Amino acid sequence: MIVSIESSCDDSSLALTRIADCKLLFHTKLSQDSHHSPFGGVVPEIASRLHAQNLPLLLTKLTDFLRTLNPNAPFAPLKAIAVTNRPGLSVTLSEGMCMANALALSLDLPLLCLNHLKGHIYSLFIDTPHAHIGEGLGVLLVSGGHTQILHMRDYEHITLVAQSLDDSFGESFDKVAKMLSLGYPGGPIVESYAARHSGALLPMPIPLLHDKRLAYSFSGLKNAVRLEIIKAQGMAKDISEEAKAQICASFQEAACAHILHKLRIYFQRYGGYFTHFGVVGGASANGVLRSRIESLCQEFGKTLILAPLEFCADNAAMIGRLACEAYMRKEFSPLGDMISPKSLSEDFIVL
Ligand code: KG4
Ligand code: ZN
Repeated sequence: MIVSIESSCDDSSLALTRIADCKLLFHTKLSQDSHHSPFGGVVPEIASRLHAQNLPLLLTKLTDFLRTLNPNAPFAPLKAIAVTNRPGLSVTLSEGMCMANALALSLDLPLLCLNHLKGHIYSLFIDTPHAHIGEGLGVLLVSGGHTQILHMRDYEHITLVAQSLDDSFGESFDKVAKMLSLGYPGGPIVESYAARHSGALLPMPIPLLHDKRLAYSFSGLKNAVRLEIIKAQGMAKDISEEAKAQICASFQEAACAHILHKLRIYFQRYGGYFTHFGVVGGASANGVLRSRIESLCQEFGKTLILAPLEFCADNAAMIGRLACEAYMRKEFSPLGDMISPKSLSEDFIVL
């Protein structure tokens, strides 16, 4: 069994995964949304302090679970400790790394330091030993930190096909929510505001529409939202709930249209290389995005795979699933391995 630890942003999470069949045996998580909400985004110092507080609580729960399996020697079945060490906030990654090092040292177990983005891809395969990708897997990763199209042939061969030039998809939802003082995380809040609006949409630019590059950009759209907010506020500097819903719906429509426009180009150019298409990351919970991608997959004859909703956002279960692959390949890290400043090209093939 492998214990996995996730603390790359504002979710503290621990999981236990059986190596033989990659079965998830236990998963626990504490989120920090209410602490960051007043600031409209994650405050690294607060996040780090909360991880220091929460990770030991989660470890107690995990230990209790291990005791139910093996009352006399709860840690005996463990074979490795896995932890996210890149990419993420260094002050929060270090909290998970400290716990991982302490566990590996005290239990005399090998350490697996893993890439969070690869973890998101493996959220598609939690609880199954088969990384079912047919002849190839196209992946859209949409989170708070990243927006990427990736192409996976197998564990060793993951190509970064496209990424955002500036803000990420999820981050743009967070920033729109912040500009409208709606709280954090912005994704689910903006999506639910958007669902209240059924009338006409405001004109919003679809980023990079006439740019042939396979790339994303959300900063211009964010600025368009800012200008619409100023217009809607008018002299009163106040904004109605209806206007907020209209802005959210218009923004979400343009953001999803941008994702879909570039995905269509990816499907046209690289469709011959994949049979399955996966959508991962916290923002893959977005219902509008999901249904649009479902239609695109149908149109191109691709099989859509999605992680269960509870494993879209950051979690240690996906790190545990990835850890099974790394363990089988003996990709152990030295104790005290750094919070890695590795560039993406060390983990992915960059086109
Ligand atoms: O993967 P994740 O939990 O953390 C990172 O690795 O960044 O993703 C969190 C991001 C946040 O930006 C959040 O606003 C966004 O995912 N998100 C959504 C939705 N649910 C979460 N974005 C759009 N629509 C949603 N329903
Ligand atoms: Zn993430």
